[in-house]
Amino acid sequence: MKLPSALYVVLSILGAFAVVGAMVTVYGSGSAALPLWAPAVRPGPLSQAHAFLGDRCESCHAPNKGIVAAKCVTCHAWAPELLMKPVSAFHANIGECRGCHVEHKGANVRPIQMDHAALERVAKRSGGPPVALQCQSCHAFQDKHQGFFGKQCATCHATKTWDVPNFVHPSPRSTDCGQCHKPPPSHLMMHFEMMEKAITGQKAARVEQCQLCHQTDSFNNIKNVGWYDMH
Ligand code: HEC
Ligand code: HEC
Ligand code: HEC
Ligand code: HEC
Ligand code: HEC
Ligand code: HEC
Ligand code: HEC
Repeated sequence: MKLPSALYVVLSILGAFAVVGAMVTVYGSGSAALPLWAPAVRPGPLSQAHAFLGDRCESCHAPNKGIVAAKCVTCHAWAPELLMKPVSAFHANIGECRGCHVEHKGANVRPIQMDHAALERVAKRSGGPPVALQCQSCHAFQDKHQGFFGKQCATCHATKTWDVPNFVHPSPRSTDCGQCHKPPPSHLMMHFEMMEKAITGQKAARVEQCQLCHQTDSFNNIKNVGWYDMH
């Protein structure tokens, strides 16, 4: 190897060490230790909500520990709305923010990306037995099935999307509607005689015969009448 190129190799190795060193220093001591390097090792711009923090990396990152929940919680006193909603009430005693709260993806990406696996990781780390996620404990208010399908949501649902692969809704000619849908309270009183039957002309219909009056795309789509919204 000729001398100049050997020197070049040495210099680039030194250069690489300098970059790694800067990252380690920032990580170890906070951005104040190497102010000019902070933007260089930041993976990307902060979300709009956090852009005001500028290059104050230590607002969220702790030396040698990475993202620490206590740092986030300094600024985030829990809003009652968050804790009073079953699906997000777990915030009251979750010890970790990573996993579901992303960052550095720029102003247009809100720093929220739900990851159910993070729930299991936290449970495992806090010493408890690895939990099977109790879907219903968080999602009870989002049960679209009026209780018909029970509490074991995971029998039919995964956590990525509520869509069920290969589910095809029964035909609008099905007579089984009542097995999966409950009538609203209005259908159980005099209203049913005076309104539902009158609007549809289905004088002999019983309440559970939804198919005589309803389509399957929306309960506001009344057979032979079209879109109907009382409100
Ligand atoms: C508002 C809080 C916040 C601020 C301020 C912030 N970060 Fe981050 N940073 C995060 C979060 C959260 C993650 C984890 C992202 C993920 O998991 O998608 C992260 C991830 C990183 C990573 C990837 C390594 C790791 O631990 O995941 C680096 C490197 C990093 N940040 C550097 C910086 C630097 C340098 C600055 C300052 C210029 C900075 N960050 C400012 C919240 C912040
Ligand atoms: C220096 C204070 C401060 C720190 C530290 C901080 N935040 Fe924030 N955060 C804010 C402010 C201010 C807002 C915008 C107003 C609001 O929504 O409360 C915000 C907004 C948010 C939002 C809502 C964003 C949206 O688009 O709705 C989330 C989620 C969030 N922060 C999570 C975190 C997490 C996780 C951490 C730690 C990694 C963190 N924050 C650290 C001050 C802070
Ligand atoms: C298991 C995933 C998960 C973990 C862990 C988690 N969050 Fe959240 N967080 C969410 C989701 C999802 C939302 C959006 C909830 C909604 O609006 O229904 C949210 C919402 C928020 C909000 C926004 C509230 C608002 O005003 O809209 C803040 C702030 C927040 N989280 C902070 C934190 C902090 C701080 C931690 C760590 C102590 C943390 N979260 C841990 C998933 C998580
Ligand atoms: C500790 C609370 C908690 C548990 C337990 C839980 N989830 Fe979630 N889940 C959330 C939060 C928070 C969100 C995000 C906010 C939302 O979609 O309302 C979410 C979102 C979802 C979504 C919507 C995803 C999307 O982007 O549309 C599905 C599907 C889901 N969960 C299914 C499940 C299933 C199935 C289980 C049981 C295996 C389960 N969840 C257990 C809190 C939980
Ligand atoms: C017996 C199977 C089964 C069980 C158990 C079940 N679901 Fe479903 N769920 C379905 C089917 C099928 C769909 C329609 C999916 C589609 O259109 O791809 C659905 C759709 C949904 C939707 C989306 C509805 C919409 O309008 O987009 C939500 C939300 C939902 N279920 C929540 C729950 C919750 C919460 C539980 C547990 C308390 C649960 N489900 C239990 C079968 C089930
Ligand atoms: C095997 C169970 C089952 C049967 C039988 C059934 N449905 Fe459904 N239906 C579902 C599920 C699951 C969904 C999607 C979740 C939801 O939004 O309720 C749904 C959704 C709907 C919707 C859309 C609701 C909305 O708010 O977007 C309408 C309307 C509907 N069904 C009408 C009917 C009618 C009318 C019949 C009879 C002709 C019928 N269904 C039979 C399970 C069933
Ligand atoms: C005799 C005809 C008839 C029968 C049978 C019937 N409905 Fe209806 N339903 C109507 C009419 C008409 C409306 C619109 C007027 C109203 O909202 O009261 C309606 C409204 C509704 C709405 C409210 C739509 C909204 O969002 O405002 C729901 C949900 C509904 N029906 C579900 C059912 C279910 C489930 C069944 C079967 C268990 C059923 N209906 C049986 C005629 C009927």
